[in-house]
Amino acid sequence: MNKNSIKIRLMEDEDFEAVVRIDEKVLNISRPEYYEQKFEKLFRTGEYIPTSLVAESENRTVVGFIMGELYIGEYGISREGAAVDTVGVDPAYQRQGIGEKLMNEFVEHLKDLGIQKINTLVDKNDSQMMLYFGANKFSPSKTVINLERSI
Ligand SMILES: CC(C)(COP(=O)(O)OP(=O)(O)OC[C@H]1O[C@@H](n2cnc3c(N)ncnc32)[C@H](O)[C@@H]1OP(=O)(O)O)[C@@H](O)C(=O)NCCC(=O)NCCS
Repeated sequence: MNKNSIKIRLMEDEDFEAVVRIDEKVLNISRPEYYEQKFEKLFRTGEYIPTSLVAESENRTVVGFIMGELYIGEYGISREGAAVDTVGVDPAYQRQGIGEKLMNEFVEHLKDLGIQKINTLVDKNDSQMMLYFGANKFSPSKTVINLERSI
């Protein structure tokens, strides 16, 4: 596959099934309810600022996606920021630069919206995700720490 034949475009409501399919292939579990909630929030509340993207192959099959949320003034955070919360590339298309292409376009899009920082939460033991985010210039936050308590 030629990386240049991959087209990145804004995610649409109609991409729901493709996103669920890719997520299932990647995680080996199906979780349509999770995406139902996300799509509801993104496309049906009227509050959506378009940031989420999909990657299409030459024959217009969706082979990857990245989903994000904006935090502008929410939770008392004064600085304008955004989060990547879900990213997935069809296993048959991984390690061909699609994840990087999705991230680059996502970042450019957020820059255009005035966003200065992007956050994400990653399981330290998930080496694939750690390497992917590291390769895409993410580093451990110097200002935020994820607190937890076992109960
Ligand atoms: C992580 C993921 C998005 C990367 O997508 P991708 O298209 O394969 O990534 P790219 O080809 O653009 O890789 C960019 C860089 O990230 C790093 N990287 C990505 N996958 C990696 C892996 N499996 N092992 C080591 N490094 C990896 C490499 O540095 C790579 O550059 P290189 O191939 O030149 O070495 C994809 O593998 C994926 O979907 N994984 C599952 C994610 C998941 O669990 N999602 C569930 C919903 S949150």
